[in-house]
Amino acid sequence: MKITAFNGSQWGGKSNTQFMVDEFLAGACDCGCRVESISLVDRIVKPCTGCFECFGDKRGRCHINDDMQSLIRKFVNSNIVVLASPIYMDGVTGLMKTFIDRLLPVLDPHFEQDEAGEFRHASRHNRMPTIIVIANAHMPEETHFQVVKLFMRRIARTFHTSITAEIYRSTGGLLRSREEQFRPYIRAYKQLLRDAGQELALTGHISFHTEQELKKPLVPSDEYIEYANRMWDKLIGTSEVSGFAKIHSMLTALWA
Ligand SMILES: Cc1cc2nc3c(=O)[nH]c(=O)nc-3n(C[C@H](O)[C@H](O)[C@H](O)COP(=O)(O)O)c2cc1C
Repeated sequence: MKITAFNGSQWGGKSNTQFMVDEFLAGACDCGCRVESISLVDRIVKPCTGCFECFGDKRGRCHINDDMQSLIRKFVNSNIVVLASPIYMDGVTGLMKTFIDRLLPVLDPHFEQDEAGEFRHASRHNRMPTIIVIANAHMPEETHFQVVKLFMRRIARTFHTSITAEIYRSTGGLLRSREEQFRPYIRAYKQLLRDAGQELALTGHISFHTEQELKKPLVPSDEYIEYANRMWDKLIGTSEVSGFAKIHSMLTALWA
């Protein structure tokens, strides 16, 4: 089974999203899956120009010459794709949205009805990969994933496929924290992600037990809010003396 993860975080390999993807894929790999992880920020994925040239072309070719042709091949040749993104303004990042828009060439322009009678474009492919959603948000509640949950369901319908699993991590800012007090929680969460990957590889789904454990808060909300506000105060203090570049390097050091 081939699993390809597409990470839409601007922080690429250093992101909280990548932390989640890496552990999940490591678990799947342990149990025999072929896995690949792609940071979209490291690829050239230009915005869709809305020209419909791909729909007018028999083979569905896009006129934009960038990395999307090879990413589409990886998408359609996978059994499962992981669509992984941090929450930006209640949705996925622009990078992830641009990537999804540019998947238009895998669809055939003709309209057809789905099982529920709702119209969508036909598919150029007999088999589409199923989707695993991985997302993290800074805020502590599950509600911050509402839009992405619905969006991904719609995307699965549009692309003639289904969602195999969803992993949403609130207080995601903790994942790369180096604070001693959080280490045991992060270690335990890492193991859960690995278990999820292994279960998926062995049974085709994540067990109810692991799903429930993954949903539990990493730390109590008030502890997290206190930590987050303390971190921002520290950064704001830094900015008065040293500006943006220093803040960026400090964040990198905090999370590296
Ligand atoms: C432009 C922008 C918008 C954001 N919007 C939200 C939001 O709506 N809700 C939330 O909980 N976090 C929001 N965040 C915080 C990110 O989700 C959080 O920092 C996340 O851990 C980043 O993940 P990454 O390291 O994988 O990029 C936003 C961050 C940025 C930069």
